[in-house]
Parts: sequence; structure tokens; C-alpha cells
Amino acid sequence: MTVFRAPKGTYDVLPPESATWRAVQAKLTAPLGTAGYGYIETPVFEDTALFRRGVGESTDVVAKEMYTFDDKGGRSLTLRPEGTAGVVRAFVEHSFHSGQLPAKLWYAGPYFRYERPQSGRFRHFTQVGAEAIGVDDPALDAELIALAWDGFRSLGLTGFRLLLNTLGDETCRPAYREALQQFLRGLDLDDDTRSRVEINPLRVLDDKRPQVQAQLADAPLMVDHLSESAAAHYDAVRAHLIDLGIGWEEAPRLVRGLDYYTKTTFEFLHDGLGAQSAIGGGGRYDGLSAAVGGPDLSGVGWAIGVDRTVLALRAEGIALTGDARCEVYVVPLGQDARRTALVLATELRRAGVSTDLPFGGRGLKGAMKAADRSGASYAVILGDRDLAAGTVEIKDLRSGKQTTVPRQEIVKELKGILS
Ligand code: HAM
Repeated sequence: MTVFRAPKGTYDVLPPESATWRAVQAKLTAPLGTAGYGYIETPVFEDTALFRRGVGESTDVVAKEMYTFDDKGGRSLTLRPEGTAGVVRAFVEHSFHSGQLPAKLWYAGPYFRYERPQSGRFRHFTQVGAEAIGVDDPALDAELIALAWDGFRSLGLTGFRLLLNTLGDETCRPAYREALQQFLRGLDLDDDTRSRVEINPLRVLDDKRPQVQAQLADAPLMVDHLSESAAAHYDAVRAHLIDLGIGWEEAPRLVRGLDYYTKTTFEFLHDGLGAQSAIGGGGRYDGLSAAVGGPDLSGVGWAIGVDRTVLALRAEGIALTGDARCEVYVVPLGQDARRTALVLATELRRAGVSTDLPFGGRGLKGAMKAADRSGASYAVILGDRDLAAGTVEIKDLRSGKQTTVPRQEIVKELKGILS
């Protein structure tokens, strides 16, 4: 018989580590809720053309990494490789632009890219993301950066850095692109890279190979070719970050892997992660709404990789206390006690005390072992004779101390002990 395994590039999130996973998502999203961002859910698959037009034909994401299929109705659909295109599609479809702007939205969920799997790079991964659509204000760029920053800090992370760049706007980018192409055409590059120079020259700046990097030392940079308004926008973002006490590194060669970016772009790197060190990234995308058939409105946002953030926590030795462990374990010692055990466990749970009990008719020894393994601090031992007398035993599983308590008092008693 075939033993099935999770597909290549995917993994199962299992307890008890899954508690960390959930805690990461909760902590990263908490600051968004306090800043007026509303939760949005969009489909896991979208019309393939949305990503082609929104993310860009020349990106690796669209050209090489999409999970695309025809459904039974002959529609070409794609498992979302990222969240921004779908959120902007929803913004346009539901005419959010006629309401209060900016529309502030956050989301979390699975994303899919057919990438070469390695540590921190998966084919199915999870992002938490935030978008502010409809207003071109540098304060929004800074607000979003601060929210990501605060999310990381709330997890206890300290080993991350913020890289900041600007990709200019529609008035200055075309001339810069041409200047960069001129420069790149004079270099000694392989055929693949030469064709990239013609299609997506900015990506060449991001080429990690030393023989390419060595030739790029004198490459023209976007920051030196900014229009007045793009430069003013970038200055304002930096001034806001200073006000907010957020430090960054200028990264004039930072090129993001998605084509929709304009003006501010940024990435959060964690130094404990090896090659896949970006734990989050984002920027402004002033042409995206129009590119997907909506009004000509600007937007800015980011997405954080949950999988990589969990790896970053591990790298810093930070353990988040999870919610999976129970506080009380109920141990029944006879047939009648078994029925009472489920009743008592339910009473305790309804009172907010996390409680578990043994199943499958285990004997006392097995049940006490399970109680120890459960991580509970207290066992409630139910003997048939005690129950007939209207009492139960509470055992402190650390000290071993045992006390007798009236059955009717047990929930109140345990709540008192645990509070
Ligand atoms: P991105 O930089 O492609 O941006 O992805 C954001 C984060 O998702 C990355 O920094 C990384 O932590 C995580 N990530 C990406 N690919 C993988 C993978 N294969 N395995 C594990 N983690 C991964 C975006 O997706 C944009 N939509 C962000 C954005 C929102 N820009 C504006 N608004």
C-alpha cells in the first residue's frame, strides 16, 4: 500500500508547535485591529488573468511559479501566489472607492508558489497581510511599516532589520529604466540575463551571483533619478519613521519580486534565517487598481511570512506559551465515575478551565500517566466511593499534595486555585 506523504514543499503544522503558529498570527494581526484595519477574506483561487495583469507577466512568480489549472467549466484559475491582487480586485468589485478612504484591510491565509523548496521556502505557505487603498499619503506607508514592526516586537523578536527603498513613480521610472538598460547592455552577461535586461532590468540589480554583482558597482540607482514628487514622498516617509522611532537601512538596490510596486518599498530581514531571510515585505502600488480595471487609486501594504516568523522565533530561542495544554485532568476510578468525569470536565470547560480526561477505558495507572503527559497542573480524582460520599480529590501534580473537596464545590475551588 502506498504511504502518502504531504506534497513536496508543504508541511503539516502539528500540536504542540501549532500553538506557536496560531499565537504568531494572533500577535501579528493584533496591532492592525487597533489601527482601524478590517478583516477581509478573498478566494484561494482567482482568475489567472488577474495575477498576469496585477503581479506582472515578467515576474518569476507569474512566469514560473503559479499553480494554474482549468476548471471543469474551462476557466483558467490560479491558486493565489500572493494576496494584494485579490484584495485590490475585491476593493474594485465592491466599489470600496465610493466609501471612506483609505480602505484599510488585513488578511491571513495560505498562498502557493511553485518554488524550489528549501529551509524557509515552501510551495504552500502562510501570510498575514495588510493593505491601505485609495489615499496617496506617506503617513500611510509609515503607519503600515510601524504596524509590522510592532507586530514583530510583540512576539519578542529583536534580530530583524528594516530595508527601505523607493522605486520612483510613473514620471521618473521610465527614464531611469532606460538609463539602467543602457548601462546593463554594456556588461558581460549570459543570454538569460540579457533578455531580462530587455524585459525587467530592475530585477538584474537583484541578481545574487558574484560575477554579476561585481559588474553592478556603478549601476545607476533609482534614488538618484527620482522626480520631485517621488523624492518628496520618500523624504516624508523617512521623517515619519524617525518620529515613530523606527530605524532602517537604505537599500537602493532592493527590488521586490512583484511588478506592481511604485515609490516606497521595504523588506524586513531576520539574520537568523540563512538564505531565505525576508520575514516580510511590501510597498506602495499606485498603478495596481487601474491595472485590474478599477479607478486610478493608489495603495500601500505588506505581507509577513508566518512560516518564516516561526523560524525566526526559533532562531532567537523564543517560546510562546501556547493554548493547547490543559490545566486540569479528570481521572475516573470506576464505571460510575466515568460518566461523572465527562460531566465534570464539561462543567469545568464551561467555567473556562481547560480540562481533559482519559478515553478508551484506561486503568488508574494509564490515566495518571496521561494526566502527567497532558501538562495539567491538577488532577481531579473521582472514586466511586468518594462520589457516593459526595466528595472528590484534587491532586497537585507538581507537589503530589492531595485534598478532599465536596463534589458541588469543585468548579469554584479549582477556579480559585487557578486564578
Ligand atoms: P512577498 O515579498 O512576495 O510580498 O511575500 C511576503 C512574505 O511572504 C515574504 O517576505 C516571506 O516572508 C513570505 N514568503 C513569500 N514566499 C514564500 C515561500 N515560498 N515560502 C515561505 N514564505 C514565503 C507579497 O506577497 C506582497 N503581496 C506583499 C505586499 C502586500 N505588498 C503590498 N501589499
